[in-house]
Amino acid sequence: MQRSVRLKSFELVARDINDVDVDLLHTLSISVRWPHRPKDWDLLRRAGHGIVTVDGIGRVFGSAMWFPHGDDFATIGLVITTPRIQAQGGGRWLMDQVLERCGHRNLALNATHAAYPLYVSLGFTSEAIVYMRQGEAPQTLPPLPALDGELSELPSDRLSEITALDARAFGTNRATVLALLAEDASIATLRRGSEVVGYSMCREFGRGFVIGPTIARNDQDAVHLTAVHLKKLAGRFTRVDTRERDGVFAEFLQQSGLGIAETVTTMSKGRRFLNREDNGPWVYGLAGHALS
Ligand SMILES: CC(C)(COP(=O)(O)OP(=O)(O)OC[C@H]1O[C@@H](n2cnc3c(N)ncnc32)[C@H](O)[C@@H]1OP(=O)(O)O)[C@@H](O)C(=O)NCCC(=O)NCCS
Repeated sequence: MQRSVRLKSFELVARDINDVDVDLLHTLSISVRWPHRPKDWDLLRRAGHGIVTVDGIGRVFGSAMWFPHGDDFATIGLVITTPRIQAQGGGRWLMDQVLERCGHRNLALNATHAAYPLYVSLGFTSEAIVYMRQGEAPQTLPPLPALDGELSELPSDRLSEITALDARAFGTNRATVLALLAEDASIATLRRGSEVVGYSMCREFGRGFVIGPTIARNDQDAVHLTAVHLKKLAGRFTRVDTRERDGVFAEFLQQSGLGIAETVTTMSKGRRFLNREDNGPWVYGLAGHALS
């Protein structure tokens, strides 16, 4: 008797990401070793739009999401095909679907090494490297630079105090996403006089906690806005995604035990995404790979 059998190939169709059980999305992200919990998928589904590829009996083989920020910009993320069907055209098909739905928007995403050639072939260009730093928050923090200003906690119903600052750093108003993140985040602000010059959020994500977005005008401010959360997380698994390769902020994270676990590449299509003003606010910590 023959010891192998060729099974009939199956067809995958696109469905709205909200039409499938979150546990199927969780299984999909586990298949590529991503840390997202069902709760993280739920938040992302509320923040944006997405499609999944399913077979005839409802099994999920892939996903792709896009997050509109304002009328002319969107970020793309959660582009996954399960290892069983990788390198057969599914990833490119998912991206074609997403690009069609995003229309004429300017786009940005953070590409893994696996996805980088696909995005290059779709016309995305590289802008920066993102360092994914993670580890157990230390019991004792390294020495901090002098604090210039006053740190305080921001209640989630006063987000309007940070929206404009965030928009200057991020390049687009993303108040809707910030409001969603704030539902389950602790928020710190740094004020000099009456002006808010920086803020940071910390929320549960994946294996532990993520500190971000962190918006600050300089490394020293970013250190304080990160340290204020790290102090409360001693011994807990913590992640910070940053584009700072070296300098006071990167050094502080390294000394705090948050080593580089992986890098991804920030890429854009259309208008350039990362535009730092001289002495203006800057994104020191990302909200997440998908949200940039
Ligand atoms: C990245 C990912 C979505 C690509 O999905 P896929 O279904 O393998 O993609 P495709 O088969 O459509 O291939 C797209 C391109 O990727 C490249 N590629 C795919 N598999 C490859 C492999 N094994 N070796 C080299 N290049 C490969 C090719 O350039 C291919 O281009 P082509 O269409 O000209 O041949 C998939 O590998 C994945 O889910 N990886 C883990 C999660 C991840 O990193 N997601 C990206 C987040 S930004």
